[in-house]
Amino acid sequence: VNHNPATITVRLGPRSYNIAVGKGLLPGILSRSPLLRDRPCFVIADRKLHTLTCQITKNLGSRLAGSLYLKGGEPSKQMGTMGKLYEAAARARLDRRSCVIAIGGGVIGDAAGFFAATYLRGLPIIHVPTTLVAQVDSAIGGKTGVNLPSGKNLVGAFHQPMLVVVDTATLTTLPAREFRAGLAEVIKSGVIADSELFGRLEKNLTSILRKDAAELAWIVKRCCAIKADVVSRDERELTGLRAILNFGHTIGHGIEAAAKYSLLHGEAVALGMIGASLLSMRISKFPVKEHDRLLDLIRRTGLPTRLPVKYKPAEILKAMRLDKKVANGQLRFVLATKIGKVKTGIPVAESLVLETIRELQR
Ligand SMILES: NC(=O)c1ccc[n+]([C@@H]2O[C@H](COP(=O)([O-])OP(=O)(O)OC[C@H]3O[C@@H](n4cnc5c(N)ncnc54)[C@H](O)[C@@H]3O)[C@@H](O)[C@H]2O)c1
Ligand SMILES: [Zn+2]
Repeated sequence: VNHNPATITVRLGPRSYNIAVGKGLLPGILSRSPLLRDRPCFVIADRKLHTLTCQITKNLGSRLAGSLYLKGGEPSKQMGTMGKLYEAAARARLDRRSCVIAIGGGVIGDAAGFFAATYLRGLPIIHVPTTLVAQVDSAIGGKTGVNLPSGKNLVGAFHQPMLVVVDTATLTTLPAREFRAGLAEVIKSGVIADSELFGRLEKNLTSILRKDAAELAWIVKRCCAIKADVVSRDERELTGLRAILNFGHTIGHGIEAAAKYSLLHGEAVALGMIGASLLSMRISKFPVKEHDRLLDLIRRTGLPTRLPVKYKPAEILKAMRLDKKVANGQLRFVLATKIGKVKTGIPVAESLVLETIRELQR
């Protein structure tokens, strides 16, 4: 059953595309899509989504050119995976008309996206995100890539999909920890652009944590619309607008790298948001009351609010210096002025950043 499906458009001229959001859209929506008429399809899916993937491939019938399963989780997002994908694509004799379909979380989406951006110098891709992180964030906006041993997302390309299918029914099987990590990105969307979304999270958190269908549909649609709007206005992070999406990610990425991925991306971002919020109180007049609301919401969501002391602040800082958000050797931050509004590109002295990371350990 398909409850209130919505269509959100990412407006990018000739690269515009739709995001279909609803519960129960799969598997039918793909085989019925005019975009896939006469196109050989190459399916790249998370192993855990085997059942759903089989329903989808069955519906595609003779259009299925090949399929490959990957393991979810950060270790799959590396160059070695690309070799496997390129070989499988060659065996499936894909041509320029072929379409890639990525079914899974952000790891599958980023890896399949980079594959689609580079194989035969670019194939169209449809994203079918199945984690909250992927539905509200990674499947939208065209950022694709893999990690290197020396850093996250260091190799990649911008490659917009031709369609994104967000079926919130897929979230039912998502483990609680992964779900909460996704909520970190939802909270982020509220802080950077939407105080109403933030208020709704505060008010209805219990039903959201229970994965109430109507509540989920509302927040996922809202986040997709925010991301679509930001990407439409600054596709390649050139004007600084898209950088608002990095709120909490400057320190967050440093923590993620220093923790050697034992923390989930969203968990590191939750800590990074608290760090950014502390800096915002000092630098961009973010009211103490708003900081307390953010801290409280993160805590009630079940996300970490304290950085374990085993992660050394100096190492986190070192990892931050390697990140792409560092320009001319200067750390730059997205800081909040109030809930729903942020400023980008704010330089912050390393000594103050270190002090803030230490504060996260108290
Ligand atoms: N491209 C972007 O703009 C962007 C934005 C945000 C995050 N990311 C990237 O996304 C990645 C994190 O994404 P993620 O959290 O989705 O990771 P993931 O793809 O590893 O998924 C998390 C876990 O959930 C499992 N899973 C996926 N769907 C499931 C389902 N429906 N039911 C049960 N289990 C399921 C996976 O197997 C995995 O174990 C990071 O690499 C991050 O850098 C990219
Ligand atoms: Zn993120």
